[in-house]
Amino acid sequence: MATDNNRFQAIISHCKEYGFIFQSSEIYDGLSAVYDYGQWGSELKKNIRDYWWKSMTQMHENIVGIDAAIFMHPTTWKASGHVDNFSDPMIDNKDSKKRYRVDHLLEAKADELEKEGKKAEADALLATMDKLLAANDYEGLKKLIEDANIKCAISGTKNWTEVRQFNLMFSTQLGSVSEEASEIYLRPETAQGIFVNFLNVQKTGRMKIPFGIAQTGKAFRNEIVARQFIFRMREFEQMEMQFFIRPGSQKEWYDYWKEERMKWHLSLGIPKEKFRFHDHVKLAHYADAACDIEYEFPIGFKELEGIHSRTDFDLRNHQEYSKKKIQYFDAEINQNYIPYVVETSVGLDRTIMMVLSEAYTEEDLSTPEKQDSRVVLKIPPKLAPIKLAVLPLVKKDGLPEIAREIMDNCKSHFRCFYEEKDTIGKRYRRMDAIGTPFCITIDKQTKEDGTVTIRHRDSMQQDRIPASQVRELVSKYLV
Ligand code: GAP
Repeated sequence: MATDNNRFQAIISHCKEYGFIFQSSEIYDGLSAVYDYGQWGSELKKNIRDYWWKSMTQMHENIVGIDAAIFMHPTTWKASGHVDNFSDPMIDNKDSKKRYRVDHLLEAKADELEKEGKKAEADALLATMDKLLAANDYEGLKKLIEDANIKCAISGTKNWTEVRQFNLMFSTQLGSVSEEASEIYLRPETAQGIFVNFLNVQKTGRMKIPFGIAQTGKAFRNEIVARQFIFRMREFEQMEMQFFIRPGSQKEWYDYWKEERMKWHLSLGIPKEKFRFHDHVKLAHYADAACDIEYEFPIGFKELEGIHSRTDFDLRNHQEYSKKKIQYFDAEINQNYIPYVVETSVGLDRTIMMVLSEAYTEEDLSTPEKQDSRVVLKIPPKLAPIKLAVLPLVKKDGLPEIAREIMDNCKSHFRCFYEEKDTIGKRYRRMDAIGTPFCITIDKQTKEDGTVTIRHRDSMQQDRIPASQVRELVSKYLV
């Protein structure tokens, strides 16, 4: 059984063993902080993305979705401020040559202090860090690292360089001939694809403020301290929504979206106490207010989603750099203006990590007669990779044929899985391990009265129901 300390490692191993998440290019010893989703991980990922997309677009009449390209004109990143500002204070260890993000080093130290029961000391360290970061006081940050006695994890020394800024964008060349090629960036956020399409969508969709544009897609950051599994990756996926509003109404909409997004996370069945808001002290270059929704991962409370009041920073800068007027005529107040924006930005991979962390359960099923246990992923049925496993008890006597008929009746409605190999007990355990909420067993009695046994993953309760009701019963759990 995994203790609290090794629970995280147990989840990582489980993800690999059951086809959820693999290290990228593993046969070449992997690529640091890049991961591939396997057969069940990609189903889970798609289900979470679809659930977010539906909640944003279908459930909000004033939000539409787009799918912008990853490559964008290089000026986009000048206008957005990323070329000049998208950097983090870093520090190198002179002995190991390893580079660290200053805030990550200090946060790790604070975690360590907290685990040792020195909560007040940990809080004081973070409070000082926040103050120094907000003041861009690099000398102060270096001194704080030294005073906190922080050592490099590799060399074990405190031989630190000065603190410097380091841009996190990846660049590449567009064009086939090197003389003609221009340097472009892999987008570090999906949001800019929305901003540059603001007028296209507003005009063609006849959208009236307030309205939103949603998008999901890959983003890339050259994270220095990229560790903790899929929590911090160099290639990851975001689900972002920019909500365009009248200037002056940003406080009201910021509060509205904070609450709406918290409701969305709670709708995944996760207890309230596993979440908290964290207000930003040091604001990003585009924001006038910002907070994170943090979730208590097995590695502690960490950022899951950002809610940012971005003012008119992005649209105003794109107007300036593109020299194209980006304005909205508000007929209600008879005024032209550049809209303000409240953004919600959640990491898809972090949401997956949250769902898996919440779902992973080790259960001791031992009886006085027999030792037994199971690992079950209690994933909400609407997000589970497979909804129904169809299992003929034996491979003969016409049972596989009946099972196939049930499969055919259900598979266009939700993801089913057919399996006839191994004992029924082993098959149930495999389905538990990938989070399949329902298994049905087809046995001799099915031939006699048309009923099947349905087994519920979490309670392991088994009921006998008519085979003709399986589709309807499972579907009820998927909304
Ligand atoms: N458009 C605003 C924006 O990108 P952010 O706070 O930098 O804001 C938003 O990122 C979300 O993207 C984060 O809350 C996190 O869930 C996810 N994210 C950011 N960097 C990540 C990384 N390196 N790996 C995985 N997810 C990441």
